[in-house]
Amino acid sequence: MNQAIANLPTPNPTQLMLQVTGLNVYYGESHILRDVDLSVPSGQMVCLIGRNGVGKTTLLKTIIGLLKPRTGTITLAGEQINSKSPDNRARLGIGYVPQGREIIPRLTVKENLLLGLEARRGGRSGNEEIPEEIFALFPVLKSMLSRMGGDLSGGQQQQLAIARALMGKPQLLVLDEPTEGIQPSIILEIEAAVRRIVASTGISVLLVEQHLHFVRQADKYYAMQKGGIVASGLTSELSNEVIQRFLAV
Ligand SMILES: Nc1ncnc2c1ncn2[C@@H]1O[C@H](COP(=O)(O)OP(=O)(O)OP(=O)(O)O)[C@@H](O)[C@H]1O
Ligand SMILES: [Mg+2]
Repeated sequence: MNQAIANLPTPNPTQLMLQVTGLNVYYGESHILRDVDLSVPSGQMVCLIGRNGVGKTTLLKTIIGLLKPRTGTITLAGEQINSKSPDNRARLGIGYVPQGREIIPRLTVKENLLLGLEARRGGRSGNEEIPEEIFALFPVLKSMLSRMGGDLSGGQQQQLAIARALMGKPQLLVLDEPTEGIQPSIILEIEAAVRRIVASTGISVLLVEQHLHFVRQADKYYAMQKGGIVASGLTSELSNEVIQRFLAV
């Protein structure tokens, strides 16, 4: 077990870390998400696929509390969180890595990492260090602690963004297209790190992803079209038809 990252009980996949039911979300009068049901079993990785503009990011933003659904419920580890703010959801254990990463360019790598502590239950204590487990997952960050975030390559920034989310000791890690715009060799590193996070810490993962190889690392998939879930199942049973319809390959 990777104690410094997560002190979680052994995951029981029959328990749901996240359950979303009957979600309808609008931007103004545009109806974006339609009757979305989705769940992430405890300790598993679930991947959401779908072409550009179908509503994947909208769903993630609703789960983390940035958008309010018009109808539907969101339950985290058995607790309904609909009325909780994004900050409260972060403290309850949702870690979020937004599309485009959003690290702070004018803070150092270390300062960016320490920002991740804001999400931790109980808050910050004042003189925190970065746990070695973070560097075990992302060795490149160790030699770069005093560099400015903005001076890192895209792949390094993505690793920093995931590491920052882990600093808050999430139970559920929500990743929005972590390999978008990143060179292939680094994609494999990021993919391997996410697999290790799931395998060694018991953290559950909800991933939006376009790279088939990465999608296949997940246990389950959901496919979205026009704001609705139109297919789902085990990634081991992903058919070529689903891949061609829902992935930009
Ligand atoms: N702030 C906004 N205001 C109004 N409409 C929006 C806003 N953000 C997104 N949309 C619209 O909502 C729909 C879903 O967008 P969303 O970003 O969730 O798609 P996505 O599946 O994440 O796409 P991508 O693969 O390009 O990231 C799109 O039609 C988009 O134009
Ligand atoms: Mg998106």
